[in-house]
Amino acid sequence: MQLTTDRLRLTRLAPDDWPLFQQVHRDKTSMEFISEVPQEADIRQRFTLRLAPWQVTSYHMLCLTLRLAETGEAIGLIGANAEWIPWRQAEVGYSLLSGYFNQGYGTEALSALVDFLFEDCEFHKLRAQVVEGNWPSRRVLEKNGFQLEGMLRDNYLLRGQWVNDWAFGCLARDR
Ligand SMILES: CC(C)(COP(=O)(O)OP(=O)(O)OC[C@H]1O[C@@H](n2cnc3c(N)ncnc32)[C@H](O)[C@@H]1OP(=O)(O)O)[C@@H](O)C(=O)NCCC(=O)NCCS
Repeated sequence: MQLTTDRLRLTRLAPDDWPLFQQVHRDKTSMEFISEVPQEADIRQRFTLRLAPWQVTSYHMLCLTLRLAETGEAIGLIGANAEWIPWRQAEVGYSLLSGYFNQGYGTEALSALVDFLFEDCEFHKLRAQVVEGNWPSRRVLEKNGFQLEGMLRDNYLLRGQWVNDWAFGCLARDR
């Protein structure tokens, strides 16, 4: 499976992608709103789980690598956790290496993933939870038609501190 945009190639995670997977999880700037930098064993476990074949009824995450179409340079990861029965929903997530922030890649990658999840997979609704204050992530969602549906109080333990989450949702007709 491969998705393409003007500047990016999105491809299923493969065993050779370990260096990228590790780099993204060790990038302190990228991890600011996600968690502490995980232990190597945790990163390896997540990587192994995400290599498994994926279908809409899978319990593990669909994980795609992001590469620049022109050079093949690996710049980040994007994916979705599906809850097919009975919701037909998926929660999207993404993380770029911090050297590639603010060049429109996050918006472009999410647009391709959202098209795939609605059109090819036929999900009814897509969701995202964003730690309050993560404005770049919020903007990327808004630019892709996601709407703020509420704020979940003390919803996420971020480096030992409870923080609020913004809850975003997107229906196919919102785009
Ligand atoms: C979230 C993320 C994928 C965004 O990717 P990106 O390629 O930098 O995003 P884009 O360049 O497409 O768009 C960023 C938008 O945020 C805006 N932005 C950036 N910093 C901002 C800030 N401090 N306050 C408000 N808006 C900000 C930019 O101006 C741009 O919006 P605009 O096009 O309306 O001007 C990237 O920051 C990332 O990987 N972060 C680390 C991981 C993460 O937090 N993931 C999300 C977990 S929910």
